[in-house]
Amino acid sequence: MRTDETASTCARVAIAPGIENKSVRARAAVLAEELGLPFIGSDLPSAETPELLLVVGERRLELREAGRGSMGPIFVDFVRGPVGFRRRSGQSRRQPIGLAVGLPRGPLTVVDATAGLAQDSFLLASLGCTVIAVERSPVLGALIRDGLRRARAEGSPEAVAVVGRITFIAADARNVLARMTGTTAPEVVYIDPMYPPKKKTALPKKEMRICRRLVGDDRDAGELLMIARQVATRRVVVKRHPYAAPLAPRPTIQFSGKKVRYDVYPPVGYRLPRLRC
Ligand SMILES: C[S@@+](CC[C@H](N)C(=O)[O-])C[C@H]1O[C@@H](n2cnc3c(N)ncnc32)[C@H](O)[C@@H]1O
Repeated sequence: MRTDETASTCARVAIAPGIENKSVRARAAVLAEELGLPFIGSDLPSAETPELLLVVGERRLELREAGRGSMGPIFVDFVRGPVGFRRRSGQSRRQPIGLAVGLPRGPLTVVDATAGLAQDSFLLASLGCTVIAVERSPVLGALIRDGLRRARAEGSPEAVAVVGRITFIAADARNVLARMTGTTAPEVVYIDPMYPPKKKTALPKKEMRICRRLVGDDRDAGELLMIARQVATRRVVVKRHPYAAPLAPRPTIQFSGKKVRYDVYPPVGYRLPRLRC
């Protein structure tokens, strides 16, 4: 779990096998070791009950709320479900997110600095971008890796090609971006922070609620934007709720949809072209 000062109240997570099966149990134990999280077997201890469980199943990894009356599981599925559907139904590069990253001008390298459940990463990759998806929550990172693995194994050739354009890095994007200089600098950095609290994102409500319990609020989003503007060679795009104030003053362009707005910032040092009268 994230322990730095930027994390607010984060839920306790433990790893559990989803079924009684030797190999599933072994995989769960390995994952618990890798992520440094408690492994609780199939019997939940009555004391110290975790709030969230990362459940290792035969087929997939799921995040569940512990306890009765909990909502359905969260998992990353790039092949089926709403994300897969968006790819199958064909996405226009002229939709707001495509225009915001500057797509109609050609394929781009985008760092998705706040990958979450990688839905926006997948959308950008399905529009033709090469995406470096960065997520600092180890639990969400495990879900993304699992989704990518299953898409490669079970997806259609098109879905495999889309996930082939996504590279996942489990880290704080501030550190990843700080190391990207010269030829490794991305053209675009995309930021969708968990802030302010009522902001809508690509995630449906259930995912959003659990993610917030898992990672807290991204109070350092302003710093991430500053670093991103020093690294991106073309632009930085920040996703916001339509009525939320911009993360930093004076975005140069805004693209609004019904549920989200994309604020575009130029790289630091960029000069606006002089307008001819
Ligand atoms: C609102 S969610 C993003 C949802 C995502 N756009 C999607 O489509 O699934 C914000 C995520 O950004 C992550 N995040 C925030 N700041 C970060 C940083 N500096 N480095 C890496 N991940 C970060 C949080 O952990 C959280 O999972």
